[in-house]
Parts: sequence; C-alpha cells; structure tokens
Amino acid sequence: MAGGGFVSEAGRSADYAGSITAFVVVTCVVAAMGGLIFGYDIGISGGVTSMEQFLGKFFPSVYRKMMDETARESEYCKFDSELLTLFTSSLYVAALIASFFASAVTRAFGRKMSMFFGGTVFLLGSILNGAAINIEMLIIGRLLLGVGVGFANQSVPVYLSEMAPAKIRGALNIGFQMAITIGILFANLVNYGTAQIKGGWGWRISLGLAAVPAIMMTVGSVFLPDTPNSILERGHTDKAKQMLRKIRGTDDVDEEFQDLVDASEAAKKVDHPWKNILEPRYRPQLIICTLIPFFQQLTGINVIMFYAPVLFKTLGFGDNASLMSAVITGVVNVLATFVSIFTVDKFGRRILFLEGGAQMFICQIAIGALIGLTFGVSGEGTITKGQADLVLFLICTYVAAFAWSWGPLGWLVPSEICPLEIRSAGQAINVSVNMLFTFFVAQVFLAMLCHLKFGLFFFFAFFVFIMTIFVFFFIPETKNMPIEEMNRVWKAHWFWKKYIPDDAVNIGHQDDV
Ligand code: BGC
Repeated sequence: MAGGGFVSEAGRSADYAGSITAFVVVTCVVAAMGGLIFGYDIGISGGVTSMEQFLGKFFPSVYRKMMDETARESEYCKFDSELLTLFTSSLYVAALIASFFASAVTRAFGRKMSMFFGGTVFLLGSILNGAAINIEMLIIGRLLLGVGVGFANQSVPVYLSEMAPAKIRGALNIGFQMAITIGILFANLVNYGTAQIKGGWGWRISLGLAAVPAIMMTVGSVFLPDTPNSILERGHTDKAKQMLRKIRGTDDVDEEFQDLVDASEAAKKVDHPWKNILEPRYRPQLIICTLIPFFQQLTGINVIMFYAPVLFKTLGFGDNASLMSAVITGVVNVLATFVSIFTVDKFGRRILFLEGGAQMFICQIAIGALIGLTFGVSGEGTITKGQADLVLFLICTYVAAFAWSWGPLGWLVPSEICPLEIRSAGQAINVSVNMLFTFFVAQVFLAMLCHLKFGLFFFFAFFVFIMTIFVFFFIPETKNMPIEEMNRVWKAHWFWKKYIPDDAVNIGHQDDV
C-alpha cells in the first residue's frame, strides 16, 4: 500500500483525504431510488389482496370463504389460500433467481447497468399488472417485477457502499432502506385511496403505479456514474482515479486509490468469486451473508408489511381501519429509519442490532399473549377497542425496532464486509437468501396464522432471541472501517480470526495487526 505511515495505520480508517461532496450525496440519493421499487411491492400486495373486488375477480374461492361466515373454522383462517399467497410470493422467487444473473452483470458491466436493466424489467411488470385481465397476466407481471427487484437489490447496496466515504458509509447505505420504507408507505397510502374508488377497479391503480418508482430508477441510472471500484474492476485505471477525485472532491486521493488498486489486484488473482467465497478465508463473509438475510426475514417483519391489512382485519378491525393501521405502521417504519441514519456511524452497528433485537422480542411476546388472551385457541371472540389500540401500539413499537436495526443493517452489513473479489457473490447470496425467506414467510404466513394462531408471534420471538445472541458473539463492529481494509476486523475477532491467513491483511502491513 502506498503512503500511509505505520503508526497511524490502525487509526487511519476514516482518514482518507477528501470530504463529503454534494456529488456523492446526490448520486447516492438517486441510486437509493432502487429501494423504492422493492418497498412499493412489499407494501402494495397486502392491501390489494384484501380488496373485495380484486379477490372476487381473481380469487373467487377466497372471496366466497371470506364472505361466508359459516364456512370457516375460525377468524385465524379467514384468508388462508395458497393461490392468494402465491400472488404475493411469486415475486420473491423470481427475484431470487434473478439475483444470480444480476451478480454476473454487476461484475462485468458495472453497477449502474444492473440498475438500469432492473428498472426496465420492473416497468414492464407494472404495466402488465395494472392491465391484468386474468390470473396469468397477474403472475407473469409479478415475476417481471421480481426480476427487477433482484437486479436492484443486488446492485444498489453495493453501489452505495462503494461510493460512500468510510465515515458516512452507514448513513448513505441506509438511504436504500429509507427508500424501501418510503416505497412501502407510498403503497399503503395508495391502497388506502384506491380502496375508496367506486366500481372496483382501484386495484389497477395500485398495481400500475409501481411504474412510477420504476421510471425513477431507470431514468436515474442513466445519469449515474459507476463506482471507482467497479471502473477499476473492469480495467480502466485512469478513469477510476478521475472518478474517485470527483466523488471525494480533492486531487489528494492517492492513498485511498492505492487501496482500491490493491483490492482490485487481489480480486484479479482469483478465478471466480463463487469458488472463492467457499475458501476458508472467506468463511466469516459466507456465513454472515447467509445468516443475516435469513434472520432478517425470521424477525417476522413481513407478516406486518405484507399482511398488515389482512392481519388487522383478522383481528376484527373494519376495512378502513385496517388499511389506516397499515398506513400508521408505514409512517413509523419511515420515521424510525432516521434513527439508524443518525446513529449507525457514531454508535455502530452492534448496539443497534442488540437494542432492536431486545425491543422486538418484548413486543412479540406481548402481542402473542394479548391476542391469545383475546381470541384464545378457538379463534372465537372479539377484541375491544382498548385491546385493539394496544395491539396496534405494540406492533408499531416492534416495527420501529426493526426499522433502526435489522431493516437497514440487513442490507448494510453484507454489502460492506466482502472484499472486492467476492463482493458481487456475497451480495447475490444475501439477496437470494433474503428473497427465499421473504417468499417462505409470505407463502406460509396465512397458513401459519391459521394453524399456529397467536403462537405465530412466539415463533418469531424465538428466532429474534437466537439472532440477538448470534450478533452478540459473531458480528464484529464495522463502523468507520474502510471497505477495502475490512480484513483487519476479522483478524481481530475472537472467533473469525482463525480463518484469516496473515497475508490477507493488507499485504505488506501485517505488522499493524
Ligand atoms: C426487508 C424487507 C422488509 C422491509 C421493511 C427490508 O430491509 O428486506 O423484507 O419488508 O425492510 O421495511
């Protein structure tokens, strides 16, 4: 590594020259728009699938069951239908598969190309959905949306982490999660509005409006520059350096640039990121990139995000109250994300993970107990206004905890812990595991609610407990550490250090660990 005195090595982390330029902030805001398309999807389907006209048209059997008070066993099973959940979850299967293709595109053609492609396919999907006249059009549209999401989620977090200077990497990366939460809220509001439309075609607007974030991302990506890391990865050294100067707002970028070059050279020596990531020295990244998305989904957050209106209806809230409650949780989700933006680079990732985990656990136990006491195992019973308010309050407190912990960190941590040579592979694993379990939760939730009843909340609480212990022991603090120097973190960790060979810690500078 050029420059860099030995004495200051360990503390040099956030000390590259250059400031936070307007250019980098604007670029990141535009890139974060990729999160909107994902969020919009998450938020839209729950409301649409609770709209009677939509159900009547595409899922007549669910509709009949919902309307026929005598036909169902209990309140818990009101909406249980595999076809209905398939509508929601098909998107995530497509995203899962697409993220592997996205990984190759992101590596070979750059991050912005993946964003552009993702936005375009997503646009097609939204048009097909808004115009759907049969279930096939609906599902094919959902699959295209999924491909778009797969590409966006693969490229945007990596893009943000590479563009950002180390000291505000967390905050900028969380721009992605912020966009997700805004997308969800926007979708909740749209559903609230379109449900009031007479004539029963409001769902078309709900589904078709996905075109708005799609256009924003597609057009935005045309104007975005690629990251220096990615330009270098594709062999354009001078261009990469120019770009780094531009985004850091100074000519004095030699030190940081040399680190990028070292990282890129190390990356070139390896044959293939997929074979690579299986090597023992990448064990921490492999395990963390697999477990973080798994745990993120096993918090149960998407039970609320997808099915809040359905869940509130199940609990006996009226139609409008259900959609309104979804809007309330959506607002809490957005606001609480700010907490993480302002704290993540100051207090670090671990404290947010641990506090968020504890808060979610308490809320889930309380919600499970309250619903259990109200509806019992039989699922018969009615909820009083006071109890309903309490459930809503607890759900909001739970959503807030997720929004400043596992929500943003589930995307931030995997995108920043992988060295360049395995970055696209690590991110593809992250996205695909995330999508797999998003699919899983979406697909089985209604059946689980029907069978596990209020125990469902205890089920998720159990996982929250496990993941909090996992964070405590196995997730090192990564705040302020330059992305291409992350190996020092593993080397200093009580458990992971045994996997890291000495030569992995910035060749030539082993002495500073
Ligand atoms: C998760 C989504 C979730 C959203 C809620 C994201 O980080 O990946 O599954 O719906 O947060 O805000």
